[in-house]
Amino acid sequence: MRHSIAARYTEHTGDMARMKTLTLALAALLAATAAHAQPKSTADGIAEYRKMLEDGNPADLFEAKGEDLWKKKRGPLNASLEKCDLGKGPGVVKGVFVELPRWFEDTKKVQDLETRLVTCMEKLQGFNAAEIAKTPFGRGEQANVTALATWIAAESRGMRFNLPQKHIEERKSYEIGKRVFYFRGGPMDFSCASCHGEADKRIRLQDLPDLTKNPGDGIGFAAWPAYRVSNGQMWSMQLRLNDCYRQQRFPYPGFGSEVTISVATYMGVNAKGAKSIAPAIKR
Ligand code: HEC
Repeated sequence: MRHSIAARYTEHTGDMARMKTLTLALAALLAATAAHAQPKSTADGIAEYRKMLEDGNPADLFEAKGEDLWKKKRGPLNASLEKCDLGKGPGVVKGVFVELPRWFEDTKKVQDLETRLVTCMEKLQGFNAAEIAKTPFGRGEQANVTALATWIAAESRGMRFNLPQKHIEERKSYEIGKRVFYFRGGPMDFSCASCHGEADKRIRLQDLPDLTKNPGDGIGFAAWPAYRVSNGQMWSMQLRLNDCYRQQRFPYPGFGSEVTISVATYMGVNAKGAKSIAPAIKR
């Protein structure tokens, strides 16, 4: 398994060419189904296509990169991340993903996977956390954070979400997140709930999951980070949220801001019991 991932990693260019072909295949598939004007069968078509891709999810490449980054000595302090505490003790990676965001005593903050990784990169490796937060998604150290998050999420694949809600700040985070989720504003007067507040909503071809409760295994919070076929990028949850703020016609929230952590806590707690399939593959 490890070996085959590593081998595929070196065949990156070939994979990208393959992805291009697959993207074109998807476009053709969408065009074909759209021509018959059967929206449900289009969703089925996408599901089928996703199934076909599962064996060759390019997220594997980011997973391999993330594992490598975790173990490599890097940064001004020339250290690895192997002593990073993601909530279950220094160096523990398995199972942490399905319990984040959670409270961290050392930073006195509720943190999600990405912001916690940045904390470790600052403390252990000497990187500047504020600089990383300012870096656009997909660039420099921000791209490394996404790769790390992809590998760490993958280490909890198949496990069920069970965010802790014992600490008062964790419960506060949930309550703030709930308010954020229902907060309406902007030119369209949208909230997250406008699009994700009830079952069976769709925008064009995309089914919109109801995120006010457990939407099911591998849906919503339980699917990200995910590889997006439509733009050939690996998207972390922070970027997913950022893009939904764009859909909402709201200003972009800052990377790792309290708003993004709180709404993640809200969705994560609601997803209790859902099985994680992250890193998933998405349209
Ligand atoms: C105008 C409608 C709209 C609003 C408002 C909106 N979203 Fe979304 N959201 C979408 C669409 C469309 C998708 C699917 C995108 C795709 O497949 O490309 C999506 C996907 C998601 C997903 C991933 C679902 C999955 O199963 O993969 C999450 C999580 C999410 N949104 C959270 C939020 C949150 C939190 C907010 C409020 C900050 C929000 N969204 C506001 C339209 C919206």
